Amino acid sequence: MKVLFLGDIVGRNARNLAQKKIAKFKTQLKLDAIIINVENAAGGFGVTPSICDDFFNAGADVLTTGNHIWDKREIISYISKSDRLLRPMNMIEGTPGLGMTIVKVKAGTIGVANVMTNLFMSRSDPVFDKVPLIIEHLKLTSNVDFSLIDVHGEASSEKMAIGFALDGKVSAVVGTHTHVPTADHQILENGTAYITDVGMSGDYNSIIGMDKNDALKRFMYPNEKKSRLEVSSGEPTLCGVVIETDTNGLSKSIIPLRLGGKLEQTILVWLF
Ligand code: FE2
Repeated sequence: MKVLFLGDIVGRNARNLAQKKIAKFKTQLKLDAIIINVENAAGGFGVTPSICDDFFNAGADVLTTGNHIWDKREIISYISKSDRLLRPMNMIEGTPGLGMTIVKVKAGTIGVANVMTNLFMSRSDPVFDKVPLIIEHLKLTSNVDFSLIDVHGEASSEKMAIGFALDGKVSAVVGTHTHVPTADHQILENGTAYITDVGMSGDYNSIIGMDKNDALKRFMYPNEKKSRLEVSSGEPTLCGVVIETDTNGLSKSIIPLRLGGKLEQTILVWLF
């Protein structure tokens, strides 16, 4: 199967660009599924029901999130009824919504799990405790044809460790949250596609997607009253990876995708 994963959508411009491009990507890149992290899609903080609907209507198959999932309260009732919008599976027991799902697409069945790491992140259950559960539920070829784990986290070491813990058991482990793409995309030795962070989809003339002047002031003058951070309004770049798997569900390739804005060159070289 061939699946596109897009990194953290930050704000309206990135959202509009992603929604406009999804159908084109599906045909041009011959994709079987599209998975998108949307935890910053609503003004940089959280996601709303109508934004999720817009992504599904545009062609997204599963949406993942992270620590900002509850920033917009109205998402609580929506996620409780959805099997395609995920929150990290290691949030405390009783948290609304699913952290792992299996959905059907034309070419087969895809399993997606969303976890949040523990180092330098808001409190959640130990992420490594969820590894056996993922392996058990998303068995390649018997339960699913393709599986992807969105590892939402700050520390690259911890994300790499999750990658190796799942190597050979899932199709792909992709990192999100830092909003900066890493250049370590690779197929691990047992066949799992891996990248520490796919990068955000947003304006890269910014500090991780937010207006750089306000963000800079916070660092330079930490004792001054903080102004509200706004999403940077420049031209967005879509960042993600295209993963292609074999009939055994393990990966043959992982290719970075970067379209628009300051980082555009990569997609031109790799995909067209
Ligand atoms: Fe995050």
